[in-house]
Amino acid sequence: MNSKIKSWRGQRVWVIGASSGIGAETARILQARGARLALSARNAQGLQQLASSQAGTLVLPLDITDHASVIGAHQQILAQWDGIDLVLIVAGTYNKMRADNFDLVVAKQLVEINLNGTLNCLDAVLPTLLKQGHGGIGIVSSVAGFRGLPEALVYGPSKAALINLCEALYLDLHPRGLNVYLINPGFVATPLTAKNDFAMPALISATEAAHKLILGIERGEFHIHFPKRFTNWLRFARLLPYRSYFWLIHKVTGL
Ligand SMILES: NC(=O)c1ccc[n+]([C@@H]2O[C@H](COP(=O)([O-])OP(=O)(O)OC[C@H]3O[C@@H](n4cnc5c(N)ncnc54)[C@H](OP(=O)(O)O)[C@@H]3O)[C@@H](O)[C@H]2O)c1
Repeated sequence: MNSKIKSWRGQRVWVIGASSGIGAETARILQARGARLALSARNAQGLQQLASSQAGTLVLPLDITDHASVIGAHQQILAQWDGIDLVLIVAGTYNKMRADNFDLVVAKQLVEINLNGTLNCLDAVLPTLLKQGHGGIGIVSSVAGFRGLPEALVYGPSKAALINLCEALYLDLHPRGLNVYLINPGFVATPLTAKNDFAMPALISATEAAHKLILGIERGEFHIHFPKRFTNWLRFARLLPYRSYFWLIHKVTGL
């Protein structure tokens, strides 16, 4: 559904959310394969550490919720590279929430980072990609965006919006020669999930997640999801009528 990538050598990749977890591992692997990296997140020290292993890596700290800082980083990239081959928007946050502990401040922050932050990135990169007529955008959503889940009262909707956004972007951008990747991880061991107090089914390492993410892009897939032994169950559950879906989720989660 997208063009395939045979070699990463020389590919100019901007990873937003590269200071830890899936984004950091993805950047590390792409660096090792010869890609040229621009690394962004708030934690400049984490980015510097990663950049120190490859000369020429751009370190562009930003807060994804701050439109001006995203635009500024994008301008620095254009000044250095004169174009971008792939933008990976990995940045995101998670907070457990149910209806009986609804917190409006936290809820709005989730939407601000996960959804509005992504929109800030699109505002920066879409004109460049459309002008180039080649390159692509990958957005990390989550299987929690497939359907409503307990404890993901607002995280889920913020990720559901990204799934819908990717679908619409594909319809608009594929005919213009651009690649769009919807990336839906299951459970991955990162600082984001370290606070979970339950046994996460089919948990994989950030390194494994990054390998699967990169493989999906190399193969030109639109929907990149992993690990399949977990995500395929949720894809099936997505098709169930509400009565069966709610029964199944209560049964499986006990919530
Ligand atoms: N781990 C999982 O099981 C799992 C499952 C499904 C989806 N995901 C998604 O995968 C993505 C990566 O998560 P992860 O698990 O790798 O967690 P992580 O280690 O916490 O990484 C999150 C990344 O996002 C960056 N970030 C957060 N808020 C930001 C902001 N306001 N501005 C710029 N960067 C920001 C963080 O950097 P700074 O803090 O330095 O800014 C960090 O680099 C997220 O979108 C998450 O929702 C994760």
